[in-house]
Amino acid sequence: MKKHQHFYPDTRNYRPFLAEKPWFFVALIVATFIVALLIAGSFKQPFLCSITNAAREVGGYSATPTQLLAILHYATTRVVPQQSHAEISISFNVLRSLGPCNFLVFGLGHDSLMWTSLNPHGNTLFLEEDPKWVHSVLQRSPNLRAHVVKYPTRLSQADKLLSTYKQEQDCMPPNVRLKGNRNCKLALSELPDEVYNKEWDIIMIDAPRGYFAEAPGRMGAIYTAAVMSRARSRPGVTHVFLHDVDRKVEKTYAMEFLCKKYLVKAVGRLWHFEIPAVANRSGDTPSSSFC
Ligand SMILES: C[S@@+](CC[C@H](N)C(=O)[O-])C[C@H]1O[C@@H](n2cnc3c(N)ncnc32)[C@H](O)[C@@H]1O
Repeated sequence: MKKHQHFYPDTRNYRPFLAEKPWFFVALIVATFIVALLIAGSFKQPFLCSITNAAREVGGYSATPTQLLAILHYATTRVVPQQSHAEISISFNVLRSLGPCNFLVFGLGHDSLMWTSLNPHGNTLFLEEDPKWVHSVLQRSPNLRAHVVKYPTRLSQADKLLSTYKQEQDCMPPNVRLKGNRNCKLALSELPDEVYNKEWDIIMIDAPRGYFAEAPGRMGAIYTAAVMSRARSRPGVTHVFLHDVDRKVEKTYAMEFLCKKYLVKAVGRLWHFEIPAVANRSGDTPSSSFC
């Protein structure tokens, strides 16, 4: 008769499975963690995006919706801003060092989305003469902030205005003002209240048009920027950028109101002025003149 064979486990060398294969335990924990992340992520955002949330804030600088729109816009358009890379870089550096700041721009153009994007979380406001152009730009970029403004001058009047403004007391320091000042033809006296009520850290003058006799010319914009800069009560200077300084009117008005001694950079057709408030000027500046 065949003897029954009994197989009993050999308990002499028995060790718990987990103690024998610790790597399996580690792998199990890692797998559980990944599955948990995947499930949590699928309720909110795709898995990889939720991981990169932390990375977005690197350096405390996260992209705003306007900046993302600007990347999409400039990556897909053939129409680029008129200022050159070297010219844009000057205001780019100032915006980076000051931002977020109050940035007033004369003129709405192909560069507007760029300027707003370079001042994230700041206040960037555009003043534009042409209502149709405002409508057209805002349709494409509704997150820009723009006001239509009327200019009371013509380019053809530039020489006369420059030679006669000193005879009008309301044009002259120290009591010069803008809002409602209809006696001074150079003062932009009917701008929206928001423009008068804010102190602007940077003013970019790249409009209105000044290349034909009937165009408004930039005389009022230059004069107004000078008056605003003088009146600053916050610390620091006002940065004024003026484009198209290859033209006579821009050049002569800049020398008269923005002052050669405050010109800190000239690149291409762009001049950069740093204008101190009257309260911070040294004693050598006569209180009755701009420079
Ligand atoms: C001298 S341009 C400056 C343009 C701006 N720097 C840019 O890169 O687009 C200023 C003015 O030209 C006019 N302008 C510019 N582009 C225009 C367009 N495509 N259609 C109508 N007007 C335009 C607007 O009145 C604007 O205020």
